[in-house]
Amino acid sequence: MATKNTRPLSLHFDTRAIHHGLKDSGFDGATLPPIYQNAAHYHETAQDLSNTFAGETGNHVYMRLTNPTNQFLENKLCALESGRKAILTSSGMAAINNACMTLLRAGDELVASKSLFMSTFNLFTNIYHRYGIKAVLADPLDPEKIEKSITDQTRFVYIETITNPGMEVADIRKIAAIAHSKGLPLLVDNTLASPWLCRPIELGADIVLHSTTKYLSGHGASLGGLIVDAGNFDWSQPRFNDFSSVVAQAGNLSFITKAWREAQVNFGTTPAPFHSFLTAVGLNTLGVRMERHMENAMKTACFLKQHPKVKWVNFPGFEDHISHKTACEQFGSRGFGTMLTFGLENEAACFKCIDRLSMVLNLANLGDCKTLIIHPWSTQYITFPKEQREQMADPCLLRLSVGIEHIDDICADLDQALAGV
Ligand SMILES: Cc1ncc(COP(=O)(O)O)c(C=O)c1O
Repeated sequence: MATKNTRPLSLHFDTRAIHHGLKDSGFDGATLPPIYQNAAHYHETAQDLSNTFAGETGNHVYMRLTNPTNQFLENKLCALESGRKAILTSSGMAAINNACMTLLRAGDELVASKSLFMSTFNLFTNIYHRYGIKAVLADPLDPEKIEKSITDQTRFVYIETITNPGMEVADIRKIAAIAHSKGLPLLVDNTLASPWLCRPIELGADIVLHSTTKYLSGHGASLGGLIVDAGNFDWSQPRFNDFSSVVAQAGNLSFITKAWREAQVNFGTTPAPFHSFLTAVGLNTLGVRMERHMENAMKTACFLKQHPKVKWVNFPGFEDHISHKTACEQFGSRGFGTMLTFGLENEAACFKCIDRLSMVLNLANLGDCKTLIIHPWSTQYITFPKEQREQMADPCLLRLSVGIEHIDDICADLDQALAGV
């Protein structure tokens, strides 16, 4: 009789993105998680269901609470982000809002990077203040300014690994040390890097957030979000005395426990399992996609930089970029992200360039395997108040999410579009 080698292997990241959890999934040898398309799970006895409600069995009750398809992906993404426990949500914004709502109360403050994804900026500055929450914004490249922005009311520090669309790379290690010295957790939106390029928890972050809609899913086929808890933060300190009842049960996992109990369950932000299935399919190829994305982004940035119609290119891969040194330290030799922005003469030139593109797609997404372009000034920021719009966007700027097509086709399409500008 043949015996199976069950010795655990120490696998590389790209391999774990494919194999993590598969052998222990309990999915009858299925190589992908089955889609559990049921709203609720029955239990044989009243006592079973009671025990499950009491949190004693780990079994499933109702889709808004947990779902086996979602759970498979949660565990895998948690491991890839070097976390201890994770929750999937219906979108990246749901993950961000759930994480923040778990921490914030009326009268609290948060300190965030002033260079934020537009909906996060909107949430923090235009929405939370209606609930008595103050967002203090600081330059993510100025840790001293971040430190000075912290008050007794601050509940957390919030940054993005690579800012969208600023392309700045914050020094996570330094900002985590500042947050911790003040007794605060550091929250990092790692969407633009993905755990392939950067794992903020390994640099000291406490909570990592994602829009899984982007690189993790990779094909523009699903919407989703993720909250990962490093499980390192001490929630028993006096500043977080509102955590005391959960700390007694969950210890260092109090944040993720509270995020699930309070936000996920009551806000109804659970993803549909079909979206998690699609993300799980896409995740298998994260390694090869990211490698190609990085290579293409660098080549596209160099191509645009020497183009006579292009005024400037903002890409952390360039040695003279303000964040180049930090990017090298944090990302090693893996790359500099897949996003860049570039400037043309004026808004009309940006419109003309987009209209002349034949392959590159003009749409509001990023991290797809396809190359995507957008003119943020006339789209994402069009409804922003004038001052905020001018602060966050530029009429002459185009944002490019470089895909994994053949590099010659990406550059040729940009070249022929720019020729008519
Ligand atoms: C950095 C970043 N965070 C969060 C989000 C929000 O993600 P979702 O669209 O999945 O809600 C986005 C979307 O573009 C993003 O770029």
